[in-house]
Amino acid sequence: MNVTHLYCSSCGKEYETGKLYNLCVCGKPLMVAYDLERASATLTRESLAGREASLWRYREVLPVDDQRNELTLGEGMTPLLKTERLGGQLGLSNLFIKDEGVNPTGSFKARGMAVAISMARELGVEKLAVPSAGNAAGALAAYAAKAGLPAFIFMPNDTPKANIIECQQTGAHVTLIAGLITDCGRIIAERKEAEGWFDVSTLKEPYRVEGKKTMGYELAEQLNWELPDVILYPTGGGTGLIGMWKAFDEMEAMGWIGSHRPRMVTVQAEGCAPIVKAFAAGANAGADVPDAHTVASGLRVPKAVGDFIMLDILRKSGGTAVSVTDEELIAAVKEIGSAEGIFAAPEGAACLPALKQLLSRGELDRNERIVLFNTGTGVKYLEAFPK
Ligand SMILES: Cc1ncc(COP(=O)(O)O)c(C=O)c1O
Ligand SMILES: [Zn+2]
Repeated sequence: MNVTHLYCSSCGKEYETGKLYNLCVCGKPLMVAYDLERASATLTRESLAGREASLWRYREVLPVDDQRNELTLGEGMTPLLKTERLGGQLGLSNLFIKDEGVNPTGSFKARGMAVAISMARELGVEKLAVPSAGNAAGALAAYAAKAGLPAFIFMPNDTPKANIIECQQTGAHVTLIAGLITDCGRIIAERKEAEGWFDVSTLKEPYRVEGKKTMGYELAEQLNWELPDVILYPTGGGTGLIGMWKAFDEMEAMGWIGSHRPRMVTVQAEGCAPIVKAFAAGANAGADVPDAHTVASGLRVPKAVGDFIMLDILRKSGGTAVSVTDEELIAAVKEIGSAEGIFAAPEGAACLPALKQLLSRGELDRNERIVLFNTGTGVKYLEAFPK
């Protein structure tokens, strides 16, 4: 195991490894630090060729100590598809979609939960809990089942039906709440001590981001160790964005890539765009969105605990933050589907109207390598589409 310690993303306080943690005492997310020199003694770019096609191929930079605790349902190593037809329609010569919809449980949330639940098992957790507006719940339920641990899931009652049913059918205890994901989070916070639940909310434990960061490793590997110029990413809690940025820094420290970074672009829905507003205002944190609404349920995160980290990354990378309407993102599902054969989740499809905005503002060069993240499959959102 190459983890040296954990550290706070805000105050820098350090924590020893091998113990269960949620947030830092200051209330901000904890991150994992590795001895990257040691990791890179066995994990080399060349060594990857013969490894398994899951995120565990990067195990030297993942936190699990005993390999027997690694849980897998085949997560990661999703295709990076060159989208010739869609790119052609937009006049772009290097447009790609990273299709996370082919992960177990149909979304990129599988990556975070595979690693977080493996760690929870390693650290002796007996019961798991999460507030979720959708895909994180399905992923938790699946990996908890695989680990043989009970999962307690609190969801807004307007969560897409597929997410509710998949949790029930993979054996989780599901409670539906008339409220938002933040209300679900509050209930867990109030009850977790008495119930003995370990809260695996986004960024409220340190390991989901470690699973999500493997998207960054894969992108580099799939593009032959040259990062793209621009990444558009549908952002709710922001774990994917934060994780990928961490992966880029780790790869640079191991000598795998140079200092070039993609411009990171956060995509949100107009009905819930706290990061877009904070970015435009030059603020370091997002304001709470009282009446958050969008059919892209994964983007309905009115206040993200890692907002300050995301805003810092957007600015450091020379990126930006863009919001799109629900009409635009739903129409984009069909546009991507008809051009490329990918039935995207509304969250992932939101990257297309965001891309068009950037093009019309002249913020993209037509030959740049641009990657859109389709974070999930549209099959889980059937209610959002006409029959
Ligand atoms: C399909 C999909 N895309 C994007 C997101 C937002 O992801 P993150 O919380 O990592 O920003 C979610 C979160 O639920 C999701 O389910
Ligand atoms: Zn702190």
